[in-house]
Amino acid sequence: MNFWEKLEKLERPFFCLAPMEDVTDTCFRQIVMKASRPDVFFTEFMNIEAFGTKGEDKVIHRLKYAKKEHPIVAQIWGMDLRKYILGIKKIKELGFDGVDINMACPEKRIIKNGACSALIKDPAFAKEIILIAKEAAGDMPVSVKTRIGFNNIQTEEWIGFLLTMGLDALTIHGRTRKEMSKVPAHWDEIGKAVKMRNEMIKANEKSNDKSRANLAKKTLIIGNGDIKNREHGIEMAKKYGVDGIMIGRGIFHNLLAFKDAGTDGLSTDFSALPIKKRLKYALDHLKLFDRTWGDAKNYEDMKKFFKMYIIGFEGANDLRVKLMGTKKDEEARKILEELI
Ligand SMILES: Cc1cc2nc3c(=O)[nH]c(=O)nc-3n(C[C@H](O)[C@H](O)[C@H](O)COP(=O)(O)O)c2cc1C
Repeated sequence: MNFWEKLEKLERPFFCLAPMEDVTDTCFRQIVMKASRPDVFFTEFMNIEAFGTKGEDKVIHRLKYAKKEHPIVAQIWGMDLRKYILGIKKIKELGFDGVDINMACPEKRIIKNGACSALIKDPAFAKEIILIAKEAAGDMPVSVKTRIGFNNIQTEEWIGFLLTMGLDALTIHGRTRKEMSKVPAHWDEIGKAVKMRNEMIKANEKSNDKSRANLAKKTLIIGNGDIKNREHGIEMAKKYGVDGIMIGRGIFHNLLAFKDAGTDGLSTDFSALPIKKRLKYALDHLKLFDRTWGDAKNYEDMKKFFKMYIIGFEGANDLRVKLMGTKKDEEARKILEELI
């Protein structure tokens, strides 16, 4: 039984931390885990073109993870089918629990050659990628993350097609590529996708046609877009029938977004924690950043996280400005240690 199948057995929606480039590296994922653990982690997306080249060393950090992060899914993107074979072989060797193909990213520089969300316009090629990926993955589960259309909402055609591909899981970000992140997510379309999936399974159960084997497979549907926290996720899962919930930006505003209010009676709101506790998260992140990356990542990459920890209390702005002005992590460490 793969980890998706195990999650399906839970009597609640399962929760995933969204892949977010330059944010959800192994350090931040471990900090999120410490605050409130999701059920599944995804890496930042990694371009498969880099596999087997000299440039691989420069980007392989995207696939770094700690043992305690299982189950963890490697997210990849690209257009070269041979590289999918090479990349997925490597991902298996690295011990990932699954591989996810990005068919969602809307950025111009990424989609100009037909990759990511541009695949919504080319289902025939998307199919080739999925088939190659599934073959290369063998018993490792394959999932896709996508949007509900390119210029217009195309849930029936596009999601309907993906549901015939025998995927283990499908994350649906409820917006089109054109909408970027500018409008509220269309959760009704995500709900429509769930209904389509359920009807396909039902129709297949009645049929003896073996060629429908892919349709028999229950592709788990993960809803994504504007979810604030666990409570909100549970409410939306009930309303729209999704199996899982993915939270992205919600974690920026509340590091305790995945926390279950019922577990210890403590707050599920990071900004309600004592200030020293919040500063300790920043310090732990700094230390982990240094231990994990050394000189491999620039200290400047760490600074954007300060605003997640240091906000909403008297003196927070001044402290943040002071930390942003530091040139080395030791300087920031010292400032924080003195306050804790
Ligand atoms: C800074 C940032 C980086 C992102 N990078 C990725 C990525 O590497 N792969 C991906 O599939 N989605 C990426 N996304 C999209 C998120 O995974 C998610 O689909 C989107 O933010 C909507 O969910 P939310 O409303 O919960 O944030 C990124 C989003 C943000 C804000």
